[in-house]
Amino acid sequence: MNQAKDKYVVFGNPIAQSKSPLIHTLFARQTAQDMVYEARLAPVEGFQAAADQFFSAGGRGCNITVPFKELAFTYATQLTERAQLAGAVNTLKKLDDGGILGDNTDGEGLVQDLLRNQVAIQGKRILLIGAGGAARGVILPLLAQAPANLVITNRTFTKAEELVAMFAAYGEVAGMALGDLADAPHFDVIINSTSASLSQSLPGIPSSLIHPEVVCYDMVYGQEQTTFNQWAETLGARQVIDGLGMLVGQAAESFMLWRGMRPGTEQVLRELRRTLQ
Ligand code: ATR
Repeated sequence: MNQAKDKYVVFGNPIAQSKSPLIHTLFARQTAQDMVYEARLAPVEGFQAAADQFFSAGGRGCNITVPFKELAFTYATQLTERAQLAGAVNTLKKLDDGGILGDNTDGEGLVQDLLRNQVAIQGKRILLIGAGGAARGVILPLLAQAPANLVITNRTFTKAEELVAMFAAYGEVAGMALGDLADAPHFDVIINSTSASLSQSLPGIPSSLIHPEVVCYDMVYGQEQTTFNQWAETLGARQVIDGLGMLVGQAAESFMLWRGMRPGTEQVLRELRRTLQ
């Protein structure tokens, strides 16, 4: 019976931990879409072969997670602007002409989650910590919300400067070394895109940046409060948010690209939060 259903997968290695099958299955149920979505382990050296096989067997679209996002970028025959600038693809879609569209929905997932939490971006001063792939993927969608200023900082400052140069034409973006941040005017929103919380460490911004009006967002998520959010909350931040909503948000954007309808995220997020407890 499953043969008749539109087929979607998420490719990664490892993949067993992926929440995407649960999220998309809940989206499909909610919107009554006739589709299946499964996790698919691809060999580290075998992404292209696995994707070829999936699409030639009639697969309609897939998500791509670590370590294949850059390979998926080169696999796509067409790219959205946000994927082009992200340099990585987390969503592929088979087109009617046989081509494969590559998109990156991570940044929009972050933006949607901030807005869902009533955190304004327009006209606000935003600090983005980190200059790796996760940071690069969210800069264009953040700039599209017209913040007053987006400041990028990073432990290795030259990498932040490279991102600033890459995105300078797209909005108010500037770099600032970690050591200079203590003298910066207050930020409204601080986004941690580093993986520091995964090793129970802090990304190195001065504690003076945490004030009663600031909202802190850690792209990491987990069962407990993340290391960064715990730190910020203890120092009196107005609100701390982890990256689980961004995960659901990017999935909703992928679903929209494939199915042409935007699923609701609140209930799915609640269900997902329950599975982490
Ligand atoms: P990702 O794709 O998740 O962004 P990445 O490209 O390896 O992964 O980038 C990791 C980011 O987290 C980098 O900005 C890294 O800082 P460096 O460029 O200086 O390496 C940052 N990072 C990781 N662990 C960190 C830590 N303990 N403290 C501060 N920054 C950290």
